[in-house]
Amino acid sequence: MITRIIGTGSYLPEHIITNDDLAQIMDTSDEWIASRTGIRKRHLAKEETTAFMASEAARKALEDAGIGADKVDMIIVGTITGDYITPSAACQVQDKLGAVNAVAFDINAACAGFMYALHTAYAYLQTGIYKTALVLGAENLSKIMDWTDRSTCVLFGDGAGAALVQAFEEGSQWASEDETMGKTRGLLAFEQGSDGAKGMVLNCRGRQNNNPLIENPFVPSYVSMDGQEVYKFAVSTVPASIHRVLEKAGIGVEDIKYFVLHQANLRIIQSVAKRLKADVDKFPVSLDHCGNISAASVPVLLDEMNRKGMLKQGDKIVMSGFGGGLTWASAVIEW
Ligand code: UT7
Repeated sequence: MITRIIGTGSYLPEHIITNDDLAQIMDTSDEWIASRTGIRKRHLAKEETTAFMASEAARKALEDAGIGADKVDMIIVGTITGDYITPSAACQVQDKLGAVNAVAFDINAACAGFMYALHTAYAYLQTGIYKTALVLGAENLSKIMDWTDRSTCVLFGDGAGAALVQAFEEGSQWASEDETMGKTRGLLAFEQGSDGAKGMVLNCRGRQNNNPLIENPFVPSYVSMDGQEVYKFAVSTVPASIHRVLEKAGIGVEDIKYFVLHQANLRIIQSVAKRLKADVDKFPVSLDHCGNISAASVPVLLDEMNRKGMLKQGDKIVMSGFGGGLTWASAVIEW
């Protein structure tokens, strides 16, 4: 069985907030944010909901693949900022698309959410349970930011990205309808992990109990982060994860055309490139205009690359996400 990404899409909210805009409302500067992170602006949702952004990204991925929503067997959304506790963002996307034949659910793996969702879809597709999956990362992070905490709120943005993934049986009539079949092997290898013991270094508490036993309910909670601990985690875990996934795929760093990393911080990306002894030009960047959009960052960047024509059939690409949980996940794909 060959599992391939056959379409991509993304949606970024209409409103753009620059570092200078933020400096008008808090004690920060373009110089501090850009030099520490590489971020210059981000999109923030105003009217857009997580489900709206996700379904717009999904629509574009379906359009890119030329596939109707009725052909989708499953929808998985990586998100920590769904609009509702229930229904899931994935069920809302199903409704908005009219993807009546799909099973739909969310995955909470923070910034690794899209990669976890992709791996989950891969497992269903490779075992023949389903054929076509919409895999998304969608976040409305600005609603869980403490806008008085300059050390976190300047880092994040909102948006959604989608990949349409399909399984092809080698040699089948169905597969032979696609002229590129036999020329690419699709998703080659995955590697992922979690470290719950370190989870509190990047956390956002959920709703708290407000039953009659509680004296002072409704304490609001926002994202809280030990930035330096997350930084140390990222620059050690990501290169190790990439080495492991390359080993599983039986190829080396030199075989990779692009490393599509979670877009948290330019310094993290540069450090990963250095540790892998890979040319930093192989690490495309979108955080300059998107900020950190958690689960959405990898699929949004992938879609930007796809639409710019950067991805050619046969190119080998590494994708890697890391973040809250703590969680991480990497994949090697042949485009
Ligand atoms: O998806 C994963 C998400 N998380 C990450 O990727 C985070 C990884 N960590 C980082 O990217 C970096 O740790 C940060 C960019 C978050 C922070 O950079 P840093 O070099 O670790 O700065 P710091 O936290 O040590 O703060 C240095 C100074 C402090 O001032 P003092 O105490 O030295 O006077 C902060 O108060 O910078 C100050 N500061 C700011 N100044 C201007 C913190 N935030 C800001 C700000 N503007 N927005």
